[in-house]
Amino acid sequence: MNITLKVWRQNGPKDKGGFETYDVKDVSPDMSFLEMFDVLNIDLEKDGKEGIHFDHDCREGICGMCSMYINGKPHGPKDAVTTCQLHMRSFKDGDTIVVEPWRAAAFPVIKDLMVDRTSFDRIMQAGGYVDVSTGGVPDANEIPIPKVVADEAMDAAQCIGCGACVAACKNASAMLFTSAKVSQLALLPQGQVERKTRVEKMVAQMEEEGFGNCTNTGACSAVCPKEISLEHIARMNREYLSAKVSSTNV
Ligand code: FES
Repeated sequence: MNITLKVWRQNGPKDKGGFETYDVKDVSPDMSFLEMFDVLNIDLEKDGKEGIHFDHDCREGICGMCSMYINGKPHGPKDAVTTCQLHMRSFKDGDTIVVEPWRAAAFPVIKDLMVDRTSFDRIMQAGGYVDVSTGGVPDANEIPIPKVVADEAMDAAQCIGCGACVAACKNASAMLFTSAKVSQLALLPQGQVERKTRVEKMVAQMEEEGFGNCTNTGACSAVCPKEISLEHIARMNREYLSAKVSSTNV
């Protein structure tokens, strides 16, 4: 297949940036979207030009690094896949594909398609951990967890922190991401020690980073490659309210 790519090029956070057009020839339908970029970059470098910068790591839908808008949708046209799992057979010969970085104030562009998502790391550092006693590793069977609860916690734990939720939200809200992390730990016995302080700290950090609030449009969940449910936002709101009420009563 032959395709035309319109790719956002930006030489750093202060650069204005703009689209550049590339013709990519003989693309195999079995290539992943990132492999197609690899081939383009090899050709660009052969011609003495600078390759297109983009983030990637696992290329297996695990790490959440391969964040980009493809034709206006985070991670491209297919539901429940990351960019690295998207194959060129999802497009047609002769297509023009527009590729842009995440657009959110809390995710400044580093270069081209790479954005700085350390704001997510700081939200995690604010409360996304559990305290454990030192000593030997306890037998897993000593902490029985009902299957329905374990399944719900695992659903939340699937969040890979890619930022598609923020990119899709008109408010650039990080509530789906933050709520998945809050929910996962609030559901499990191991997460009870910091349950109340965790939600307060993570929400405060989320606001400090400049993410917007949730107005229930659901765009975040619709584009999430791991199909994280809006129910986690509802749980986080309940956790937050409960934490605030008890800290006010103390
Ligand atoms: S590169 Fe890891 S999820 Fe895509």
